[in-house]
This record gives sequence, C-alpha cells and structure tokens, in this order.
Amino acid sequence: MWGASILPLTLALPCVSAITLHRRDDPAVLGLPIARREATPKLQKRSSDVVSTSLYNNLNEYYSVNITVGTPGQNVSVAIDTGSSDLWVNVPNSTYCSGDDDLCASAGTFDISKSSTFKLLDYDMNATYVSGFLAAGPYVTDTLEIGGATVKDFEFAVAEQSYNNIGIIGIGYSASTDAASALGKDYDNLPVALAKSGAIKSAAYSLWLNKFDGTGNILFGGVNKAKYQGELQTLPIVQNQGKYTSLTIALTELSLKNSSETKSYTTGLPLAVTLDSGTTFTMLPKDLVDPIYKIVGATYDSKYGAASISCDMHSADYNLTYSFSGATVSVPLSELVYLNYAEPDFAKGDCIFGLVYSESGANLLGDSFLRSAYVVYDLDNNEISIAQTDYDGGDDDIVEIGTGTAAVPGATLVASAVSSATGNGAVQTTAVYSSGATAATVTASATGTETGSATGSATGSAESGGATSASSSGLGALATSMPNHLLSGVLGAGLLLAL
Ligand SMILES: *[C@@H]1O[C@H](CO)[C@@H](O)[C@H](O)[C@H]1NC(C)=O
Ligand SMILES: *[C@@H]1O[C@H](CO)[C@@H](O)[C@H](O)[C@H]1NC(C)=O
Ligand SMILES: *[C@@H]1O[C@H](CO)[C@@H](O)[C@H](O)[C@H]1NC(C)=O
Ligand SMILES: *[C@@H]1O[C@H](CO)[C@@H](O)[C@H](O)[C@H]1NC(C)=O
Ligand SMILES: *[C@@H]1O[C@H](CO)[C@@H](O)[C@H](O)[C@H]1NC(C)=O
Ligand SMILES: *[C@@H]1O[C@H](CO)[C@@H](O)[C@H](O)[C@H]1NC(C)=O
Repeated sequence: MWGASILPLTLALPCVSAITLHRRDDPAVLGLPIARREATPKLQKRSSDVVSTSLYNNLNEYYSVNITVGTPGQNVSVAIDTGSSDLWVNVPNSTYCSGDDDLCASAGTFDISKSSTFKLLDYDMNATYVSGFLAAGPYVTDTLEIGGATVKDFEFAVAEQSYNNIGIIGIGYSASTDAASALGKDYDNLPVALAKSGAIKSAAYSLWLNKFDGTGNILFGGVNKAKYQGELQTLPIVQNQGKYTSLTIALTELSLKNSSETKSYTTGLPLAVTLDSGTTFTMLPKDLVDPIYKIVGATYDSKYGAASISCDMHSADYNLTYSFSGATVSVPLSELVYLNYAEPDFAKGDCIFGLVYSESGANLLGDSFLRSAYVVYDLDNNEISIAQTDYDGGDDDIVEIGTGTAAVPGATLVASAVSSATGNGAVQTTAVYSSGATAATVTASATGTETGSATGSATGSAESGGATSASSSGLGALATSMPNHLLSGVLGAGLLLAL
C-alpha cells in the first residue's frame, strides 16, 4: 500500500531481548513490501493469436516496490535491482511510454512539469545494453519518498528514451552509478542517501524475495530474523580491480544431492558471482552447469538463453547447494523448474529450467537462486551475510543494523572465506581479508571465467521487450568493443558491464 508501507515496527517487535545488541524499541529501519511481477512481452500485445500465452509463457520477471517522486508525490513502481546503482523512472512523453498502447500506465511515470521541487542537472544517464538501447535521459534531483522516509534533493535519472515499461531502482554501490562510472560524477544513491538522511544507521539492507507467488520484503537498515533458518554467515565482497563495484562473492562449490547420492562440482571455482535481483535466472559457466544438466536431463537453448527440462522434474527430490567458503544455500529442484513456463520450440511437457549458461561471462545468481536465500547487503563494510530463507518463520523479528564493523546483528563471519576470485571482470589477486577480530589470508586459484577488462558496474533490466528480444545472441555479442555500457540481456538480466 502506498505511503502506509512502513512496517509498524514497534508493534512487530516481540519482547526485547537483552542479548541482541541492536534491538531497539524504535529501530531505524525502513521496510517495504516487494511484489513479483511479470513483464508481458510486447510481441504478444499485437494480437491475441501471435503467441498463445496459455501454451507458451516466456518468463520475464522482476520485483517491484512502490515509491513516490516529486512534490506532490507521484506514484511509481520500480524494479529492485541489486545489480545496478541508479534509480531511473520513465517520463510520460518518452519514446516508449507515449505510444498508443499506454505501456507505462501500470507502473506509472514521472511528469516533471507537475513537480514543484524538480531540478534538472546538466548531464545524462545513458545505459546501453546488448539487446539494444535501454534507458537514457537527464539526471535530476527531486524529493523521493520510500517506505515512509523522505529524501530531499535525491539524485536520479528520468528516461526520455527507454524500452522498459517500469523504471529501475538500483541499490548497488554508489561508485557504480552511470554518472560515476561514465562521467566521474559521484553521487549518493539510495542506500547511501538513506543512511545520510538518518532514516537508517548505515548503508545496508536485507532482501527477502519469498516464494514464487508470495510478496517479499526489503528492509533498509535492518534484519528480519523470522525470515531465515540457522545463522547469517558473513562473507567478504569480492573486489574488482581493487575496487568494490558490484555485490559479488566467491562461489566455492556447487553440489547436487538426491536421496541416494551427492555430487560435488568445483570446475572453475572459486568464481566471482554477483547476487543480482534484476536477473531472472542463475547464470554460470557451461563447464560447471553441464554435469548438472546431465543428471537432471536439462538442455540449454541458446536461441532463448533458456534451458528446457521435463516438467516432471519439478517434483524430483534433488537439492542444488551453493557453497560460499562453507556458507550454504540449497535450492530445491521445485524452485528451479518453472511450471507453466516454456519457450515456443520446447518439446511438449518441457518446462523452463532456471539455471543457464553465462554465455556473456557474467556469472549471476538471479532470482532462481535468491528466492532460496536471505541476503543482507552491507555496503559500508563490504560484506554480504547469507542464510537459507524461511518462508514460514512466523511473526516478524526485526533488529537494526548498526554502524561500525560487524554491524549486522546475529551474523557470524565465515572463517578463512575466499575473498578474491576471477569472473565478472574480477582480476585474480592474493587478498588479506580482515573484519572485526578475525583475519584470513586467502589465495584463490586462478581459474574461472575471465571477461577481459570488464568491470562489474551495473544497470538492471526488467525488459518488457520480453524473452524474444533478449536473445542469447545478444548475450553472445557481449563484445569488448562497445564504447559505453553493455548489458547481459537474457530474460531481464540485470548486470551492466562497464568497459
Ligand atoms: C498514490 O497511491 C496512494 C496509495 O495507494 C493513493 O492514495 C493515491 O491516490 C495515489 N496517487 C495518485 C496520484 O494516484
Ligand atoms: C504498488 O501499487 C500498486 C497500485 O496501487 C498496487 O497494486 C501494488 O500492490 C503495490 N505494490 C507493492 C509492492 O506495494
Ligand atoms: C518531454 O517533455 C520535456 C518537458 O516537459 C522536454 O524537455 C523533453 O524534451 C520531452 N521529451 C521528449 C522525448 O519528447
Ligand atoms: C547513448 O549512447 C548511445 C551509444 O553510445 C548513443 O548512440 C546515444 O546517442 C546516446 N544517447 C544519449 C541520449 O546520450
Ligand atoms: C540420484 O542421482 C544419481 C545421479 O547422481 C542417479 O544415478 C540416481 O538414480 C538418483 N537416485 C534417485 C533415487 O533419484
Ligand atoms: C532437500 O531440501 C529439503 C528442504 O530442506 C529437504 O526436505 C529434502 O529432504 C532435501 N532433499 C534431499 C535429497 O536432500
């Protein structure tokens, strides 16, 4: 619900526990519901018989939150993207939104002429993607309202050109905004601006997507202990050429388990993988994925950038476990086999499988992974804390993320965690990772996919152009020759590589 979306935190708190440091009667936490939505491929809009949606339903999903921009506040929905860093919204007279179809009506647009606090800046955002041009327009400042907090003079971009019917709220590192990476103009993006405004203590947030058909939650400045199982395990974020640019950690092992056997895979690991809520699927190197395909009977189709699998496998008892220096998240096959979704060329009885090749070299743990995880992104400490999700954890138990090191309440630092890895443009180094009292020296072996000189910065896409336009040929075309920015554009892939 608009405006009223801030959680009644004081009411939600159970009796105050003496052992938890950061529990307060009035924690500085902002909570917002997030809704899973599916973009309708534009192709299917032309007439009802182009593609029968009941037969073939390409999947292009994103997670949205409601915000207001301007004075008085204008309602817009934006897609939450941990793989990018700018907020941008469509304007009503943009090339895309001003068409006959009124494509942008459901998410809303921002009419700058109706805001009394709007200021135009003299430089532009211009995000260019493999699948085509996505969003460009001037940076502006105006009042932003999110989860009951108000940020005055917040900087974002208005897209006069875009192919997206919904704007994007990028919540990655502020160093990776388009303005910072393309123009050297740093600004405070959302997590930083919320912390500076005092609404939260530090630039950190927790993202819980919930089950496929549920409503999730993003909690800025807090952790909801009712939404995960076991303990939060803290891992170092992997640097990219000496800088923190994307929400990337080191994947150290993948294993597939059924009732009789566990198979482990480490080909090309450790590998830098980016946690990207703006990407639908999980994208990993072919060599790592192929043995898993062999066991579950999946086939990759580069035409769609998607994999097919027998729909019957939805009920097969297999778990795919991702290990990050020992911290694990298990994804049951039922979460990876998308019932009622297929591509036009799939055999009858085949469904979409949510693990695909990272043809572009961008290794992304997208929504097909993130729905099984509770993830705390601590941008101030350059750490990610992770635990197995809990869909039925009962009443909210919200604690504040404080300041300083070890700010995430209840999280344990993983001993000897791998803090550097190749992949996603990261360059192999020997790193000393230290946080709080623990320090570990780690040398990761020089394996994994290398994406040349790409540095992982970002912009997300919940492309309403649909799966067809976001083809894997686009992904394959991730060339180093493009001047500005490139998106790995499979089915709403959200990582933009700045060259
Ligand atoms: C914005 O959303 C709120 C809450 O849903 C609603 O009360 C308000 O009327 C909306 N404003 C506009 C201009 O649609
Ligand atoms: C956003 O607002 C729309 C329109 O009022 C509403 O239908 C939707 O449920 C809201 N979404 C979230 C995540 O709150
Ligand atoms: C949209 O309108 C604004 C003024 O409100 C104008 O500056 C801008 O050029 C227009 N954009 C397009 C694509 O027509
Ligand atoms: C954005 O970048 C593309 C490709 O570099 C260029 O063709 C286009 O003119 C730019 N658009 C704007 C509005 O700067
Ligand atoms: C378990 O997986 C192995 C392959 O790793 C397979 O050979 C075996 O048939 C599976 N067992 C069951 C009970 O599904
Ligand atoms: C997979 O995980 C689920 C949930 O934790 C568990 O109930 C099930 O027994 C696991 N299956 C296997 C084969 O490990």
